[in-house]
Amino acid sequence: MSKFRETAALFLGAIPVFLGYETLKGDEKFYSNILMPVVHSCFSPETAHNLAIKLLSLGLVPKGKTQQFDKLSCKVFGQTFPNPLGIAAGFDKHAEAIDGLNKLGFGFVEVGSITPLPQAGNAKPRVFRLPEDKVVINRYGFNSCGHDVAAARLDKHMKGRIVLGINLGKNKESFDFTKDYTDGVTKLGKYADYIVINVSSPNTPGLRSLQGRQKLQDLCTNVVAVKEGLPNKPSILVKIAPDLTEDDKQDIAHALLQSKVDGLIVSNTTVARPSTLVNSHKSERGGLSGKPLCEVSTKLVADMYKLTDGKLPIIGVGGVWDGKDAYDKIKAGASLVQIYTSLIYEGPPLVGKIKRELNQLLEKDGFINVAEAVGADHK
Ligand SMILES: Cc1cc2nc3c(=O)[nH]c(=O)nc-3n(C[C@H](O)[C@H](O)[C@H](O)COP(=O)(O)O)c2cc1C
Repeated sequence: MSKFRETAALFLGAIPVFLGYETLKGDEKFYSNILMPVVHSCFSPETAHNLAIKLLSLGLVPKGKTQQFDKLSCKVFGQTFPNPLGIAAGFDKHAEAIDGLNKLGFGFVEVGSITPLPQAGNAKPRVFRLPEDKVVINRYGFNSCGHDVAAARLDKHMKGRIVLGINLGKNKESFDFTKDYTDGVTKLGKYADYIVINVSSPNTPGLRSLQGRQKLQDLCTNVVAVKEGLPNKPSILVKIAPDLTEDDKQDIAHALLQSKVDGLIVSNTTVARPSTLVNSHKSERGGLSGKPLCEVSTKLVADMYKLTDGKLPIIGVGGVWDGKDAYDKIKAGASLVQIYTSLIYEGPPLVGKIKRELNQLLEKDGFINVAEAVGADHK
């Protein structure tokens, strides 16, 4: 991208910062109906993503609705969250924008996936927007700065300001996948409140096979043993795919309980292509995220909650667009919720909107705190 276009884009993105979007009447609609479509028509998905990271890393962030909701404050994995809404992995892949994301009003941030060695990922273009379908398809293939660069960056980040998750991936060419993950815990664990073993991205050949019963149990047992040696003992979570058979789900639940991990993330992107898709990019290879994933991932949250007897906290992610989607995942068994694709289409005001709506729904159903609603569908 030319220097001129980059400067123009930074200026465009910074407009709401200077105006302060709380002063813009109907800011949520302004972003979803005007600003985001303009940005999307000017920039490819990957360029827009890089610009967003740049703005956030420079602190050029529209001041989020700062309203705190007592009902939304919760304790999970021994950590206190001001609210249960986090940014999912894949947005801040290289741990560059943690403070900016904190300012947007998220209750926690997950960075990554980070691989041991730096790698470029797949050839471009590798991200596609399907706006009519409220979908994104990506095949980034773990483009990563690698452990060392991430560690240097995280070293400068003041720990303790926001709950931080670090999502680990494996290198494409690696043969010792266990070492890829255990090295990640050794090198990056001290910066993390929780670590994610990502065995569910569809764009790294063979990765999803690590979800098999014995492989997963062995991998997790090794990772848990390494984390026990760290002074801060971050929680260990496993992120799973939505494309699983009933047997797969039972195997995963067994492996997670046996290996004593602390929780799971449900779910990554899907390789399925719903018949409802209309956009011409619908047949692009890669993982699909967004609206059509919402029901599928909520159902999987419910299944995994039941299969693990509610013993493992779950982060629910997939197609969350509003407070009701988040609430549905919580009632299905999620203790925390993440978003990614909806943020691409709706922009930063979505964070405040989801929190406000979730608070209203909890109020309406008489819950004093969000923690009481976790798994309510099963009671
Ligand atoms: C462009 C893009 C890149 C992603 N990269 C990663 C990644 O590196 N690691 C990971 O665990 N998940 C990754 N994800 C998956 C998201 O974290 C999330 O699980 C999924 O998109 C479903 O949530 P959503 O429908 O709210 O986007 C990525 C998603 C998108 C859209």
